[in-house]
Amino acid sequence: MTTNALIEAARAVRENAYAPYSRFKVGAAVRTSSGAIYVGCNVENVAYPEGTCAEAGALAAMAAAGEYEIVEVAVIADSPEPVPCCGGCRQKLAEFGTISVPVTLATIDGATLTTTVGDLLPGTFTAEHMERS
Ligand code: THU
Repeated sequence: MTTNALIEAARAVRENAYAPYSRFKVGAAVRTSSGAIYVGCNVENVAYPEGTCAEAGALAAMAAAGEYEIVEVAVIADSPEPVPCCGGCRQKLAEFGTISVPVTLATIDGATLTTTVGDLLPGTFTAEHMERS
């Protein structure tokens, strides 16, 4: 499974995004350690804070299938530059992926920028931070 296939999965699910308020459709795809791909799109709500990001949808689909380990991520939107994940989604990705997991940000025109979960969220808050010695 290639990065291009992951981008194409994100591109396809982006078509289903429900974004009547921002008009900004986003698609995301995560590949897990099993090789499976899970996809998600943003789903907005008239009560704006209740909307959910594409990345959150993909991670929810993954967990619903009983998987919890991501090895690659792709996010796509119709933007001039590859759109970086929002802060909350960086934390959500860090929950299920190590710092070296590649995250490819793409535009529908074909531009890509590949970063990592660790570079997106330096100084990640983890479960270890709640442990006392
Ligand atoms: N959005 C995502 O789905 N993922 C991101 O990482 C950035 C923002 C969505 C949320 C909202 O529906 C729309 O883009 C505009 O912010």
